[in-house]
Amino acid sequence: MRIDIMTLFPDAIDAMMGQSIMGRAQDRGYIKIVAHQIRDYTTNKQMQVDDYPYGGGRGAVMQADPLYRCWEHICQEAGHRVHTVYMSPCGRVFDQQVAKELKANYDHLILVCGHYEGVDQRVLDEIVDEELSIGDYVLTGGELAAMVAIDCIARFIPGVLGSSESAETESFSDGLLEYPQYTRPAEFRGMKVPEVLLNGNHALIERWRRDRAIELTLSRRPELMERVELNKKDIAFIQSIKKDEKAR
Ligand code: ADE
Repeated sequence: MRIDIMTLFPDAIDAMMGQSIMGRAQDRGYIKIVAHQIRDYTTNKQMQVDDYPYGGGRGAVMQADPLYRCWEHICQEAGHRVHTVYMSPCGRVFDQQVAKELKANYDHLILVCGHYEGVDQRVLDEIVDEELSIGDYVLTGGELAAMVAIDCIARFIPGVLGSSESAETESFSDGLLEYPQYTRPAEFRGMKVPEVLLNGNHALIERWRRDRAIELTLSRRPELMERVELNKKDIAFIQSIKKDEKAR
């Protein structure tokens, strides 16, 4: 998969995306992430990318031309129009499902990062296929949002996570929040690791983890339970929790 990012801060993207799992995924050729400096596509001497908003008001608006020229360059290199996403708080809210969908539908994406008080609407109308928001808050620019989206999408590419892990089988994909994890030492400040995790009985461990995940999801994000596929043992466990609650 290839993702091109249009930004005023390509160094910030390269620095972050060169680390850890994303860095390794790029080195191994599972994903290619290319950050483009929008300023390189200006035609004025000052390399100015923004200007006053028509109609007045505070701040500066990113001009259409450098963005368009940058986008056109990426599409020309690709040899076709590339699915283009504008990172914006006005967009569809990004989640695990959207990440999976983008990975399944496109092997090349362009992410556009805005700054200042916004972007000239005409270039958005011309180049953008969809807008994505990473949540109901406003960031100073689209870069962090783009990196959140890339990180999450990349986890669905086979090979990016270790062979024993996968974004499909892990906890949030089954709709539940993650169960608690422990590592050595077996005792920390008087607190012991739950006994069940030490006895090597994998069926019991699986059940214990599933129960903790259900418990956590019920207490913190009960609305997520609607989409969870429950088996007989899950239902019995939930009933036992409800019984205990009533008894209290
Ligand atoms: N740019 C500014 N805020 C944003 C958000 N919440 N999501 C995506 N892009 C943004």
